[in-house]
Amino acid sequence: MALDPQVKKQVLRKLTYGLYVVSAAQGGELAAGTVNWLSQASFTPPLVMVGLKVDSLLHAVVDRARAFAVNVLSADQKDVAQAFFRSTEVRDGRVNGYAFEPGATTGAPVLAVVPAWFEARVTDAVKRGDHTVYVAEVVHAGLRDPQARPLDMWETGWFYGG
Ligand SMILES: Cc1cc2nc3c(=O)[nH]c(=O)nc-3n(C[C@H](O)[C@H](O)[C@H](O)COP(=O)(O)O)c2cc1C
Repeated sequence: MALDPQVKKQVLRKLTYGLYVVSAAQGGELAAGTVNWLSQASFTPPLVMVGLKVDSLLHAVVDRARAFAVNVLSADQKDVAQAFFRSTEVRDGRVNGYAFEPGATTGAPVLAVVPAWFEARVTDAVKRGDHTVYVAEVVHAGLRDPQARPLDMWETGWFYGG
C-alpha cells in the first residue's frame, strides 16, 4: 500500500512533544532556536537526541561546537518559545531579548528565565533528510524551579511535524 500523505501528516501530528530552546556557541558565534523534536534516548550514558534543520544557523553552530544547551521552558513561557522561532539576534548581552550566561561545561548559552536546563556534548550525527539528528551526552544539568510544569506543545496549538 502506498503511503497516503494526508494520513501520514495527521498521524505524525499526533505525536506529543515539549518545547525547548536549544542553544550553542562557538568562536564568538551564537545561535538559539525553539525546537520540539527532542527526547532522551538512553539512561547510561544519559543521551538525548534532537532533530535540527540543516539550513539553520543553529545547525551550523552545533555542528562546529559539537555541544549545545537545552533550555527547558515552563508551561507559562509560550512567549519565550515564540521569541526563538525567529533568527538569533544578540544585543546588549541578551539573545532575542533574554538574558543568558555561558554554560559552565560547554559554554552553550543558558537562559536566565528557564526553570531547568542541561548541557550536552554531541556523540553522533545522523545526516539524513532536511533535519540532522544529533545524539548527545548530558554532561551538566541545572534546576532553578523543581516545581515547574513543562511547556506542552499540544497545549500551544502549534505544530511542527507531519
Ligand atoms: C512550533 C515550531 C517548532 C519547531 N521545531 C523545530 C525543531 O524541532 N527543530 C528545528 O531545527 N527547528 C524547529 N523549529 C524552527 C526553529 O524554531 C527556528 O525557526 C530556527 O531555529 C531559526 O532558524 P535560523 O537559525 O536559520 O534563523 C520550529 C519552529 C516552530 C514554529
